Amino acid sequence: MTKSTPPTSFPKSEIKVLLLENVHESAHEIFRGQGFHIEALPRALKEDELCAKLEEGVHILGIRSKTHVTRRALESGKRLLSVGAFCIGTNQIDLVAANAAGVPVFNAPFSNTRSVAELVICEVVMLARQLGDRSREVHEGKWRKVATNSFEVRGKTLGIIGYGHIGSQVGVLAEAMGMRVLSHDIRTTLPMGNNKAVESLDALLEASDFVTLHVPETAQTKGMIGEAEIAKMKQGAYLINLSRGTVVDLDALAAALEAKKLGGAALDVYPQEPESNSDDFTNVMRGLANVVLTPHIGGSTAEAQESIGREVANSLTRFTNTGATVGAVNFPQLELAPLEGTHRVLNVHKNVPGVLRDINKLVSDRNANVLGQILATDPQIGYLVMDLDKDVANDVRKAIAELSSSIKTRILY
Ligand code: NAI
Repeated sequence: MTKSTPPTSFPKSEIKVLLLENVHESAHEIFRGQGFHIEALPRALKEDELCAKLEEGVHILGIRSKTHVTRRALESGKRLLSVGAFCIGTNQIDLVAANAAGVPVFNAPFSNTRSVAELVICEVVMLARQLGDRSREVHEGKWRKVATNSFEVRGKTLGIIGYGHIGSQVGVLAEAMGMRVLSHDIRTTLPMGNNKAVESLDALLEASDFVTLHVPETAQTKGMIGEAEIAKMKQGAYLINLSRGTVVDLDALAAALEAKKLGGAALDVYPQEPESNSDDFTNVMRGLANVVLTPHIGGSTAEAQESIGREVANSLTRFTNTGATVGAVNFPQLELAPLEGTHRVLNVHKNVPGVLRDINKLVSDRNANVLGQILATDPQIGYLVMDLDKDVANDVRKAIAELSSSIKTRILY
């Protein structure tokens, strides 16, 4: 068995990649290295323009957040193999239609983890030293040299709610500054360093000087920090939210800050966020003392953009060359290591009874043997990767493509 990919039967220079919205250069490099043909446009395309482009025979489409990949666009892309969302969210893509069309969609959910974690650490210190307020005052020409309510963070307790990719990184960085770290998660997690998991949210709230939120937006996390939870926090504690805006009840938070129950807060996300940089921002938190407000920039760094470019381009390339769908957001996930001397067929089909039986019969009718085979399914579709011992793959591909259950069939090598 070998991990290297055999040369593909389809010339790589004929693989057409369409990159929109200034996808990062790191992605171009990867596609260029593969010998794929790249067309890049700096802007988003409207539906009609996108349909026209896809009709020209695009194999790989790369977008960011502004291009809407609709059902009609997906239907126009008869040659379309996969879509890359060079960002975190995938709401701009009709994932159900893409699944039904046999088109996996890849994104980069964890490329900006470190960027968010670093901003949290920065804000822990900012809040402890009232840095936002002091900086603004000096800009306004006011000299308020005070030590009251300014603290070191060393020896203080940081409580992390949601100990996933970001939360666990925050915990590691916080310990480097001498903080004690507690975490609470609905999963059993492996605490990093000397971080300590606590059983209940209440236990974390009662023990922490700083509370930072790193949970996803779910029915359970909506409003998870409200009046009752804030009341359980220590007098003068700080709250940090760089997760999702709906997690914190902002009226309750503003009241707690005005009543001096809390010593400060840092927010990067809000229940309602402006659509664009030219829209105004209205929010109950504006103007409150020791409150750091940022415009959802937790993950917005040059490193994160570069990393997103690499991560998504690598997933798209792996899928093009080997059929691997690990990391796809709308597709059954599988990966079969390439086997030397075999011929690989990929098939996406409707998830109905008997498909695998029909396909295996087509193979045995040609006196070929299956050397490797993986099928993964979701309720709508099945995805099959199959390695054959004889060079009958093209014949098998044609026969499989004629099955009424088939959605997409491709031969790799
Ligand atoms: P993740 O999925 O790796 O971790 C989330 C953790 O929260 C998981 O361990 C999960 O078990 C836990 N969790 C879920 N429900 C919970 C509950 N009710 N109570 C306690 N724990 C719960 O996600 P990741 O990558 O760490 O992201 C965390 C949040 O940060 C997400 O909301 C994400 O949207 C947000 N984010 C914000 C960015 C920004 O620019 N401000 C950038 C990137 C992510």
